[in-house]
Amino acid sequence: MKFETTALHGAQAVEQDNLSRAVPIHRTTAYLFKSTEHAANLFSLKELGNIYTRIGNPTQNILEGRMAMLEGGAASLALASGTSAIFYSIINICQAGDEVVAANNLYGGTYSQFDSILPQLGINVTLVDPTNPENFSNAINEKTRALYCETIGNPGLTVTDIEAIAKIAQEHNLPLIVDATFTPPCILRPLEHGANIVIHSLTKWIGGHGTVIGGIVTDGGNFDWTDPKFSLFNEPDNSYHGLRYAHDLGEMNKIAFALRMRLVPLRNLGACISPDNCWAFLQGMETLSLRMERHSENGLAVAKFLQNHKQVEWVNYPGLEGSENYATASRYLKNGFGGMVAFGVKGGLEAGKHFIESLQLVSHLANVGDAKSLAIHPASTTHSQLSAKQLTEAGISESMIRLSVGIEHIDDILADIGQALGNK
Ligand SMILES: Cc1ncc(COP(=O)(O)O)c(C=O)c1O
Repeated sequence: MKFETTALHGAQAVEQDNLSRAVPIHRTTAYLFKSTEHAANLFSLKELGNIYTRIGNPTQNILEGRMAMLEGGAASLALASGTSAIFYSIINICQAGDEVVAANNLYGGTYSQFDSILPQLGINVTLVDPTNPENFSNAINEKTRALYCETIGNPGLTVTDIEAIAKIAQEHNLPLIVDATFTPPCILRPLEHGANIVIHSLTKWIGGHGTVIGGIVTDGGNFDWTDPKFSLFNEPDNSYHGLRYAHDLGEMNKIAFALRMRLVPLRNLGACISPDNCWAFLQGMETLSLRMERHSENGLAVAKFLQNHKQVEWVNYPGLEGSENYATASRYLKNGFGGMVAFGVKGGLEAGKHFIESLQLVSHLANVGDAKSLAIHPASTTHSQLSAKQLTEAGISESMIRLSVGIEHIDDILADIGQALGNK
């Protein structure tokens, strides 16, 4: 099946007892065991099946199966938020004393997680400028256990050369984790470029309507965890039947990463997604490729409009010919360049605030990927916890406005942006 068809039908076997066409919401906490033997088999993984909704649920299974198909991966795990998806991906690999090398142009929440929270657990993250992939190579040491980047850095919109970083990861036998939230799989599939683990905040374009929070991690099934340096995969897990995830899973060894994440961080820390939210994300998925076409079309039109506006200092949109990102963007992004546009208003901080406050149609809020157009001033909001030096390193200026261009009629979007710029 092609992408558009998979987005509607993938991973759903119609339930034969009720023949429901739409994916049913399974709103139950727990599932009956057929016998004590059945229960024991489920707990020891001799049989796969439903036990308790914190660990999995049939509505969630369809979301996960469909996402794995869309991403070209081996298995996915849905979680309560993109933030928990990132945290669980790291602690599924690293323990105290291990290290990660990550790009420094990350979403503000991820930056804080890496800069402040992970060190509390003894996991140190070295942040490097991803525009020169060699920086990853130079920062790797014997304690490094993973490399991490975003497909399009937030909010500077730098497109990452995933293949170059994946090559470095392979040379050092390290997994490459990619947060692809800004590029849903109809635009970019990082596993095809050598990534091993792909994360999405489902909250954004996949949900697509600004109504639900969720995250998902896709295991490419393309990383060999048997290197003893990955001790969480090679030593017996006393919390789960002494299992060695890289060795004892038989046919499921290929999805050792996804399975361990379900059995250890999710089962014991509990950032589970609700079946209702899974259903909402499945609804979003159905129209994802259609919406992305319009987001991209409108994004490009807004970028061109801003480029020609005399109140605008600079515009950054990956699809703008002549932009420094254009060559890399054209290599990686298919079917459009997405809906994110960043620009600087002439007049610095005050002009930026004035623009934001003058918007009428475009909503001023901290989110991206809604069907409705959104705007924010990162320096005073999402990235306000960063020092001046960290802001500069992340490519954020005081006058920067970040737009998440929606799917309204382009004339209405341009009219609002034009009036907010003063129509000069
Ligand atoms: C790139 C990126 N990753 C992760 C997240 C976190 O996702 P969530 O809000 O679903 O926790 C965000 C949120 O804005 C994001 O932009």
